Amino acid sequence: GQRLLEVGQNIGMPLEGTCEGQMACSTCHVIVAAEWFDRLAGAADDEEDMLDLAAGVTRTSRLSCQIV
Ligand code: FES
Repeated sequence: GQRLLEVGQNIGMPLEGTCEGQMACSTCHVIVAAEWFDRLAGAADDEEDMLDLAAGVTRTSRLSCQIV
């Protein structure tokens, strides 16, 4: 299946995904709508650590390469 990263790229969202899902960048950062955020499986510690380094992070930020 596709990850949200690829789905977003396919519809023209400006997601780079430089590390291709290795959680070594944060160029796939997305802010998830609150009503959807709670439906997602929680972020792993590695994802949280990388999000801490991303610009403009919010309470509902995720790395789109980690959302399937
Ligand atoms: Fe690099 Fe998601 S593509 S962390």
